[in-house]
Amino acid sequence: MLKRISALVVAGLTAMSVAACGSGSGGSGGTSGGGDSITMGFSQVGAESGWRTANTKSVQDSAKNAGVTLKFSDAQQKQENQIKAIRSYIQQKVDIIAFSPVVESGWETVLKEAKDAKIPVILTDRAVDSPDTSLYKTFLGSDFVEEGKKAGQWLVEEYKDATDPVNIVELQGTTGSAPANDRKAGFAEVIGAESKFKVVASQTGDFTRAKGKEVMEAFLKSNPDIDVLYAHNDDMGLGAIEAIEGAGKVPGKDIKIITVDAVKDGMQALADGKINFIVECSPLLGPQLMDLAKKVLKGEQVPPRVVTEETTFTQEQAKQVLSTRQY
Ligand code: AHR
Repeated sequence: MLKRISALVVAGLTAMSVAACGSGSGGSGGTSGGGDSITMGFSQVGAESGWRTANTKSVQDSAKNAGVTLKFSDAQQKQENQIKAIRSYIQQKVDIIAFSPVVESGWETVLKEAKDAKIPVILTDRAVDSPDTSLYKTFLGSDFVEEGKKAGQWLVEEYKDATDPVNIVELQGTTGSAPANDRKAGFAEVIGAESKFKVVASQTGDFTRAKGKEVMEAFLKSNPDIDVLYAHNDDMGLGAIEAIEGAGKVPGKDIKIITVDAVKDGMQALADGKINFIVECSPLLGPQLMDLAKKVLKGEQVPPRVVTEETTFTQEQAKQVLSTRQY
């Protein structure tokens, strides 16, 4: 009984805080769906890549356009910072929390705290591995396993006539993150069907250009005969290109390169022939995120999983779309 009463009190307080935010937001924009009254706490992974910068811009611009008051924090690739940010959003009684989890594990406690405070949570970009899906309303983002498979399928086709072993090095994303785990798994599943494909080295480059360069330099020293680089994002691939050129080799020819993301710098390198194939991962999640947040707060049903639509690019396709690439 006592529990039911306190639940009602919390619900009442939450409703009051929604109303309070509405009156405090100054009525800018006046957009549809009651956007004026929504305050969203958003915990971003960091600023590790061109993709992340574009994603942050998309979320910030879309919040503005939708009349959503955004409280934004950058976790600098640290889970502890994200947990602190989420706790602070709970304390501030925001209407809804959205975040892109830096790693997959270790979220249950803080997500339970948000649930107990009756603040809905939306996962964007990256997933958590908790079996308790009641801890969040929906997960909006790419299918990273599929991205890894697309990278593998290009490779299988490219080397369909090869009979010699194909030596591959892999630059993984941040250890424990969903895109690193899934892109590795999808790729391995596809190339694993043929024994000629050998992953001779695989290490994290933390999704950054600097680390991509550093790790590729080490790969080149310990593996004289690399045929292919598979980098889990463009930035690591771009760093690796510097290392390959520094070692006197020609990227895209001596070593074929596959990356993921399709940000402008990556697409430029693809058009220039330094990268051979890019699997797209779209960072433009902001508009859909705001839409989902409004629906959740209105009590509307939302799908538990919203998968981003994306494509792949060859060198020729990159040349055609480069001038209109937004990010
Ligand atoms: O979670 C998406 C990944 O994170 C992007 O592919 C990568 O560039 C970013 O850092």
